[in-house]
Amino acid sequence: MALADFLQQLDELAAAAATAFASAHDPAAVEAARVEFSGAKSGQLKTVQKQLGGVDKQDRRTAGMRFNEVKNQIDELHQAAVQRITSDPTEPLSRGGPYFDTTLPGKPHRVGHLHPITQSIEELKDLMGRLGFSVADGPEIEDEQHNFDSLNIPPEHPARDPLENFYLSTAQATGDGSLLLRSQTSTVQIRVMEKTPPPVRIISMGRVYRPDTADATHYPMFQQMEGLWIDKSVTMADLKTVLRLFATSYLGHDVHIRFRPSFFPFTEPSVEVDMSWGDDWIEFGGAGMVDPYVLESVGYDPEQVTGFAFGLGVERICMRRHSITDIREFYRNDIRFLHQF
Ligand code: FA5
Repeated sequence: MALADFLQQLDELAAAAATAFASAHDPAAVEAARVEFSGAKSGQLKTVQKQLGGVDKQDRRTAGMRFNEVKNQIDELHQAAVQRITSDPTEPLSRGGPYFDTTLPGKPHRVGHLHPITQSIEELKDLMGRLGFSVADGPEIEDEQHNFDSLNIPPEHPARDPLENFYLSTAQATGDGSLLLRSQTSTVQIRVMEKTPPPVRIISMGRVYRPDTADATHYPMFQQMEGLWIDKSVTMADLKTVLRLFATSYLGHDVHIRFRPSFFPFTEPSVEVDMSWGDDWIEFGGAGMVDPYVLESVGYDPEQVTGFAFGLGVERICMRRHSITDIREFYRNDIRFLHQF
């Protein structure tokens, strides 16, 4: 056989293979093209290869080299077609959709859950509900009346300092009714008592804001749970019982509660509340017997009713429960941290 004829056959074969692989759009078509051209038994390459022996002896080497080139070229066309079909999701199939390998394992969906602080809030509501406390709500943007005045915090008190609060208007701390982001949930005590005659037994959960520098136990935005129980002859012993029952139920084991004398303008006497943590104590709230001045200012008769109030840091008790050592973890939005709860 003349060399020119043999080379022409090879050229035609290469061109036909290029067309066949380019028009194959699913794995079956690619495989059919492979069998057609490179099939071990009766592929077209095989057929041409058999004719190699018939090429004139002096041209056989040239013919053999060209044969190998075309064989490699067809192998590459095959590889490229496989690659295109498996990696390009826009490659249309003969079925009319992207290639989908039904034998691959599925991608599991990440199932989310509530943030640990939200979980705690829900649990605390439930738990306090069983102690007879219903849930009350109040605004996060407050006026000075509810954040300070009605809580017996006079205009010159350092707690009203612009540097201690997020005021929303420029006329700050002037007692003229400026608005601010509430710095404590004790505001809700006032709002509830203004509207409700005694007895009241409520909790209020929510965000409060203070320009505190963030560190392991402080954050400029955090959550408080406020509690208020006003009735005939409610005492400090009731306060301690409620807090101890609450802490023991939330933490799941017997927790020691310690009261340290303190001062809040709206309670008398006032205490800081600590709970045991190993050999140590951590502060988780402030509390006290509602000051008669506050009761009077909302129209209650301090001769008839008494009561206690407390305000707890929700992050602090959640940290205690899960042995979390840095409050900032809650707000970094790091899924690796959050999904543990
Ligand atoms: C109060 O806010 C009072 N309203 C509590 C109160 C209510 C007293 C009712 C009497 C009657 P205090 O500023 O101590 O108190 O804050 C209460 C708790 O909030 C703290 O014990 C702590 O657990 C938490 N807390 C305070 N500042 C931060 C902060 N920057 N980050 C996280 N938690 C905080």
